[in-house]
Amino acid sequence: MVPEVASRHHVEVITTCINEALAEANITAKELSAVAVTEGPGLVGALLVGIAAAKAFAWANQLPIIPVNHMAGHLWAARQVKPLEFPLMSLLVSGGHTELVYVKAPGDYKIIGETRDDAVGEAYDKVGRVMKLTYPAGREIDELAHQGQDVFAFPRAMMKHDDPDFEFSFSGLKSAFINTVHNAEQKGETLDKKDLSASFQAAVLDVLLAKTKKALAQFPVNMLVVAGGVAANKGLRDRLAVELLDVDVVIPPLRLCGDNAGMIAYASVCEYNQQHFADLDLNARPSLSF
Ligand code: KG4
Ligand code: ZN
Repeated sequence: MVPEVASRHHVEVITTCINEALAEANITAKELSAVAVTEGPGLVGALLVGIAAAKAFAWANQLPIIPVNHMAGHLWAARQVKPLEFPLMSLLVSGGHTELVYVKAPGDYKIIGETRDDAVGEAYDKVGRVMKLTYPAGREIDELAHQGQDVFAFPRAMMKHDDPDFEFSFSGLKSAFINTVHNAEQKGETLDKKDLSASFQAAVLDVLLAKTKKALAQFPVNMLVVAGGVAANKGLRDRLAVELLDVDVVIPPLRLCGDNAGMIAYASVCEYNQQHFADLDLNARPSLSF
């Protein structure tokens, strides 16, 4: 992803996008109660385009602005499935983040653990590049994984007894994957992408499942929300369904797992109810955390 190209693309499409959304929802600006916009985290250029458009739209239509955290948006996409019950645990897995977040009440988020290096989706995309798959590669690796075997015994990091309970690390797995492929290439061998994918995915899922189970053991909740682009992963969904029987596992529908505007609207409802509005001096917060 080239940040400058992404920002310019946002500028080109944002007005059409807003107009099409209103037309599709069959609603006029006058009928809206507020404008929700992502304030961060993310690429500063893209965030600024969204914020500038939201401010102009809000000012022109006399509407309040609600700043939304992108990761809260991912979490609230689960609201499409059913009302969320608090407190809840959430596993948020995307291209930029991997975190376990305890949500005591709407708006009350606490990160109990996160990745120290690569995010899960980022690791998928990087090993995808080594296998010469198209970017983003998560979905294709997921499909290949289902046709292969876990034969490469890739490392599962942060799983030792004295490792922090809820921290993640995926850079070692990524390096092990790259070394395996390069060593084979030097010997003139080509490894089976299906087995490589199955082995990579098994290593990722073992860690995600183990850490989530630990979090649920320490923080008693009735509901687990798994969200973010990687929550579309079929292998992850299958294992959650089989291995987590004592908690209500809620995962957004596939089309709401990846980045979308609907999730930002859902996340803005609790802020709206608390009348948490921003002024016209709202700025982008590229490194915003919970
Ligand atoms: O949440 P998202 O749409 O964007 C960010 O906020 O980062 O997540 C995108 C990430 C990409 O890294 C993509 O490869 C990954 O989600 N992804 C998947 C799958 N579908 C998308 N990863 C694993 N399995 C999938 N089925
Ligand atoms: Zn995202």
